[in-house]
Amino acid sequence: MAIRPILTVPNPILKEKSLPVERVDDDIRALMDDMLETMYAAPGIGLAAVQLGVLRNVIVMDLAREDEPPAPRFFANPEILESSAEVASFEEGCLSVPDVWDDIERAARVKIRYLDYHGNLIEEWADGLYAVCIQHEMDHLEGVVFIDYLTRIKRSRAVEKVKKGVAERNRAKKSSRVAAE
Ligand code: NI
Repeated sequence: MAIRPILTVPNPILKEKSLPVERVDDDIRALMDDMLETMYAAPGIGLAAVQLGVLRNVIVMDLAREDEPPAPRFFANPEILESSAEVASFEEGCLSVPDVWDDIERAARVKIRYLDYHGNLIEEWADGLYAVCIQHEMDHLEGVVFIDYLTRIKRSRAVEKVKKGVAERNRAKKSSRVAAE
């Protein structure tokens, strides 16, 4: 397993549409393992393959609270079969948009179908945080990031904030490298 770099906005790859996997084989499981390790290290609760620059319909997630044991979930080729008319608003964030949060309204419940880590076909209803997270991650597979739902002014402010943060982190990394030499 390996921690891989996470792409941040405005990287154009994040706007690309991902493609289905043919089957969940060892290569896809290796990708899922890397994604999970990268997500835990960030730390985050969900990650789509495109965020690592891999345009495949693969998602990892862990919604366990800090006082609970890890509960990783793996999704390949997820589909939404049904959405509740009822909506719910949740303050979302994204590892590709670090340090930005905003309220996003989505279906409160969704019925989903996907292949799990072992390639089993699963159909189930997601609600609460699970519903929020799976819809957020499935948006990534379509090239949509949560800030795309915000007003133009809020969106450009978010992108500027991320760019500034990335530049600051790169500067800090460079100076710590110099200090180590
Ligand atoms: Ni995200």
